[in-house]
Order: sequence, then structure tokens, then C-alpha cells
Amino acid sequence: MTPEPHPSTGTDDPTFGPPPGCPAHDPGLGGVRRLYGPEAEDLGDLYEKLRAEHGAVAPVLLHNDVPMWVVLGHTENLHMVRSPSQYTRDSRVWTPVLDGTAGPDHPLMPHIAWQPICSHAEGDEHLRLRGAVSGAISTIDHRGIRRYINRSSQALVNRFCEEGRADLVGQFAEHLPMAVMCEILGMPDEYNDRMVQAARDMLKGTETAIASNAYVMDALMRLTARRRAHPEGDFTSHLINHPAQLSDDEVGQHLRLVLIAAYEATTNLLANVLRMVLTDPRFRAQLNGGQMTVPEAVEQSLWDEPPFSTVLGYFAKQETELGGQLIRKGDGLLLGIAPGNVDPHVRPDLSANMQGNRSHLAFGGGPHECPGQDVGRAIADVGVDALLMRLPDVQLDCAEDELRWTASISSRHLVELPVRFAPKEPQDVSQRPSLRPLPQPVPSRPVRTQQPQATTPPPAPPAPPAAAPERGPGAWQRFLRWWRGY
Ligand code: HEM
Repeated sequence: MTPEPHPSTGTDDPTFGPPPGCPAHDPGLGGVRRLYGPEAEDLGDLYEKLRAEHGAVAPVLLHNDVPMWVVLGHTENLHMVRSPSQYTRDSRVWTPVLDGTAGPDHPLMPHIAWQPICSHAEGDEHLRLRGAVSGAISTIDHRGIRRYINRSSQALVNRFCEEGRADLVGQFAEHLPMAVMCEILGMPDEYNDRMVQAARDMLKGTETAIASNAYVMDALMRLTARRRAHPEGDFTSHLINHPAQLSDDEVGQHLRLVLIAAYEATTNLLANVLRMVLTDPRFRAQLNGGQMTVPEAVEQSLWDEPPFSTVLGYFAKQETELGGQLIRKGDGLLLGIAPGNVDPHVRPDLSANMQGNRSHLAFGGGPHECPGQDVGRAIADVGVDALLMRLPDVQLDCAEDELRWTASISSRHLVELPVRFAPKEPQDVSQRPSLRPLPQPVPSRPVRTQQPQATTPPPAPPAPPAAAPERGPGAWQRFLRWWRGY
């Protein structure tokens, strides 16, 4: 295939034609499709049109008709992230930044603008900053964290279990990752509804996002000062004491990166897995055979609905070729996680169960591959398992086609997941979890939901799911151990 250079946006040519956004000019300039506006309402559909028209790498226009490539092929995405000599995450080399086409007021700048953090660094500086972050992540006690996730899940369920109905996005998925991340960082007392609101606000970019960012940064900088003076055994203390010798500012910025990136991604993952468990016919079918475990459901969700649908972006350091396209030095490329995950070359049949296959792109790859993926998976695995254990009769409380999402180029977020179940008694979660670990790996519990039961509250302790006995070895024993607090 002859390499196809990206067409000029024409934004420097006043005689080029109608202004950006003009409906008479759709698709975008020079026939290039826009990743925003009416045509981009269904991004999944748009990616497939682009794949049919251009193959594995397609030219697109971002807001203000700024040119970009979107990488649609699984192999091509992996090649890009694994070729740091050709592509960088440092947006200061991006032509539209250099020529002013994408200025500081560009709507996507919060995602793209260079910051002195490991996600945008490369070479030795990336090794230094990422070394400190992954060093601190490696000190996390995974068994202890799983117990904490379980206990936090129980506490959240206690808040709504007597009601017999809940919104699992607003009352569960948006809270659990924040509770866990605050514990990991070493500030469990900072976890509260205000912190959750602030994080959501920052991600939505609403008018109060700046105040919310200040609220979060204030908590993180106070934590940094406390741990600099009196180190403990948490993530923040390890980050500070790493031989990379991060300054207080660097520590604060990386705490923010970890807290907010982990929060958004894990919230989306939890919500997506819960929705799949409640609605997806493939899981319902699997349920009859009883083969689908929660970790498999998580992995399937990471393929079908990756928490970050794209990453903005990678930038070409030199002229090169990718997927048959000529990529010029300074061009920008979107890491196409969602389109790469449905590339027909790796998934000819999208309805096929991926059986725990982990070669999806949900965590990126190469030198910047997500270092926190085990934590993200643990929150989803243990959180979903704990919720299904407490509410075995949970079911969707609306028609499936009434579910709504908010979508941007970088992610898709389920707005609400209304459910109903027979009201339950709250359970005592005031005890700190004991040091005695739960059996590993946790959980092996099959995903199963039951038909609604009578509305009479079950006796305490709650009965195991009667109509669908547990299959995973020791699941009921694990439950009893947890219930008895040992
Ligand atoms: C389901 C949950 C998560 C998903 C889907 C996810 C996804 C991602 C993705 C796609 C990237 C960018 C990779 C690239 O540029 O190629 C990334 C980077 C990163 N993630 Fe995660 N993440 C998750 C959870 C977490 C958690 C829990 C932590 C921290 C404990 C974390 C910390 C980071 C950091 C520090 C980076 C930047 C790494 C670098 O640039 O070197 N993530 N993540």
C-alpha cells in the first residue's frame, strides 16, 4: 500500500473553504472524518468506518480540526507503544503545539499538555520517575489490599442493602476505587464523599474542576509533608524514600496521577463488569454451564469495554511508516485501545469468549504500560465478588436499552446502573480485617446472578445463594471465614 500522508488541515489557508464545524463540510476537511461533533456520536461505529476506508491507521480531525492519526490495528498499536525510538509521549514535539494550531485553550489540552510526570517523560527521566512509582507499587501488600477491598465493599453495600435497590455506579463503582486508593496512598481518613465528588468533578472538567483539583492537591501535599517528616509503610512513604529522590512537587504530581488515573479507570472497569454480569447474554449462557469466574468476566470486559478507550497520544520523533501510512515527524497518534481490541485480525468473532486471554490493549504496552494493573484487577475482582456474595439476587432495575453512557474520545462512563434485590441486613465491618489472609487466588467464584427472591429480608448471617449453589472450590468457606472475621 502506498503510504498516505496526513492531509493538511488548511487552517493556515483562509481561502480553503467553510470554517471548521460547518455542517456543509462533513466529513471534515479534505474528506477527513472528525472525532468530534455529530459524526462521532458513536465512536465505535466511526472507528469501523475508518478501518474500512483506511486500514489499520486512519487520519482524523480532533476538536478545532487539528489533525491526528488514530491507530486501529492491534499489531500497529503494539508496534507504536513498543518503539520508543520512533514514538514519544512528549507532546512538546507535536506539530500543532509547535505551530500554535493546538493552543493552551484546545479542549483536549488537559489530556495532551506536557507535564513533568512519568506518563509524558521518556528515556532516563522516564526510568527515574517510573522507577519510583513502580517501586512504590511493588511494596503494596496484595493480600492485605484484597482484604481491604472486601471490607470496603461490605461497608458500601451496608449503605444501601436495607433499601432493596441501588445505583451501582453512584453508590458502589464510583466509591470503592477511591476508598482503596486512599488506603494505598496512606490517607484512609481522606476518603469521603467530598473526595469522590472532587475526583469526578476534575474528570468531567466542569466549572468547579479547578477548585476540586486544588482540594485534591491540598490533601496530597499535606500527606507528602507528613510522610516526609514521619515515613510509614505506605505507597507515599516508599515514593518519597525511593533512591530516585523525587522532590515534594514531583511526589505530589505522581500521587495525583496515580489517584486520579487509577480512580477513573477502575471505576469504569467496575461499572462495566457489573453491567456485563447483569445483562450480557454471553455471561447468562455461561452461567448455565457455570464456567465463567469473576476474573474471566473482568478480562472479557477489558477486551470489550476498555476503561480508557484511547490514550492521547503518542508523537512521531521521525518520519516513519505505520499500517501503510506515511507518518511525518511531529505527527500525533491516538493509541486506539478500543478499536485495537476489536481488530478483526485478532478477533474475527466478537461474540467469542476470550477465556481469560490477557493480550488486550486495556493497559497499553511498552515502556509506559500501566504499572498498576494488578491493583485495578484486584479492585474489580474482589469488589464484584463481594457484592455478588452479599446480593446474590441482584438484578437490573430498568430495561437494558435505558442505560446511558457519557463518552469522550478517551473514555466511556456508564451514568447509572439501577438494580433491585431483596432487602438485606447490614453487616458488621467495624473490625479491621485480621492478618490471616484469605485463600489465594481470590476469587474463583463463578459469576452468577439469581432471579429476584421474595422481599422478606433474609436472616443474618445471610444465607448462601440457594437457587444457584456456589461452584468455585471453597467459595462458601471463604464466605464463612469472612463472616466470622478470621
Ligand atoms: C483497570 C484499571 C486501570 C487501567 C485500565 C489502566 C490503564 C492505563 C493505561 C492505558 C495507561 C497508559 C499506557 C500507555 O501509555 O501505553 C496507564 C498508565 C499508568 N497507570 Fe494505569 N490503569 C489502571 C489502573 C491503575 C492503577 C490502580 C494505578 C496505580 C496504582 C495505575 C497507575 C498508572 C501509572 C502511574 C501510569 C503511567 C505509566 C507510565 O507512563 O510509565 N493505573 N494505565
